Amino acid sequence: MTISLTITRPDDWHLHLRDGAMLKAVLPETARHFGRAIIMPNLVPPVVTGAQAAAYKDRILAALPEGMRFDPLMVLYLTEDTDPADVAAAHASGLVTSVKLYPAGATTNSASGVQNFDKVRPVLEKMAEIGMPLCVHGEVTNHEVDIFDREAVFIDRVLDPIRKATPGLRVVMEHITTKDGVDYVKSNPKDLGATITTHHLIINRNHILVGGIKPHYYCLPVAKREEHRLALRAAATSGDARFFLGTDSAPHVDAAKESGCGCAGCFTATNTMALLAHVFEEEGALDTLEGFASKNGPAFYRLPENDGTITLTKQETAVAFPEKIESGDGPVTVFDPGYPVFWTVT
Ligand code: DOR
Ligand code: ZN
Repeated sequence: MTISLTITRPDDWHLHLRDGAMLKAVLPETARHFGRAIIMPNLVPPVVTGAQAAAYKDRILAALPEGMRFDPLMVLYLTEDTDPADVAAAHASGLVTSVKLYPAGATTNSASGVQNFDKVRPVLEKMAEIGMPLCVHGEVTNHEVDIFDREAVFIDRVLDPIRKATPGLRVVMEHITTKDGVDYVKSNPKDLGATITTHHLIINRNHILVGGIKPHYYCLPVAKREEHRLALRAAATSGDARFFLGTDSAPHVDAAKESGCGCAGCFTATNTMALLAHVFEEEGALDTLEGFASKNGPAFYRLPENDGTITLTKQETAVAFPEKIESGDGPVTVFDPGYPVFWTVT
């Protein structure tokens, strides 16, 4: 039997597009299905000022193939030198949607991130005043904290104190990977939302490590135990409007992933919507997919929903997704869930 589901065109509230040849290769993979995306600013050098965000936005729009529509929502990378007035001006003009907080050293290209959180207090206070959301990479980077505990420790030691010290600051916990993250969002009804990636709904840490190391399943925050994956699935499919899709699709060429020191990131832009249809169907929750992918995000960001729709159709035979896309810098492996998927997107 063919099942078909038409939903409002979705958005991706956390996406890495990179620059140059990689940008050109990966942008159509997202623009094919998504109306907008929150564009991560962790380029080298990072996108720190309004002027840099404007230039990056122009490069993204120039890389968009003829006939495709896509609206990149720009983000500034928070540093200890960020100027509150520049942030406010870039937001007021409509150029910049949010600011991204990376703890220094937390992930790919985060060396310019924040070490001393007191130094960014004036920026956070300004953002609370103007209602501008802060996107947070929620992991501590202290060497003594185990990598699997870094999200939970961040919530206690960094995020909760920042939120208490800055009333009214609107925070998106990006790519939550733990039950602790889910519970923190649920117990804080005001000014808090969270994105969940597609891959964290599909893999747990066994997928990365059992039977040989799988570099294409390695990302940050790293996938956790099965109980956490199940908590994420329950949150994403619950219909609770505080949880929404942010794929964190993060392309790296195969040579950088399949290496003695492989980069973090799963590239899911190509098959994300098909995989989500599979996951939501498994959970008996196809009716909440539109909220998760197309409605809860715009509501949190106080933006209109997209015009237009996409249709997800379940077919009789498994879909053959490309194994890799060519980037000009080398091949990029598309995330493989490890099982057949029967959903297509039109
Ligand atoms: O897995 C990840 N890859 N996590 C991040 O936070 C950054 C991203 C990247 O830029 O490659
Ligand atoms: Zn990311």
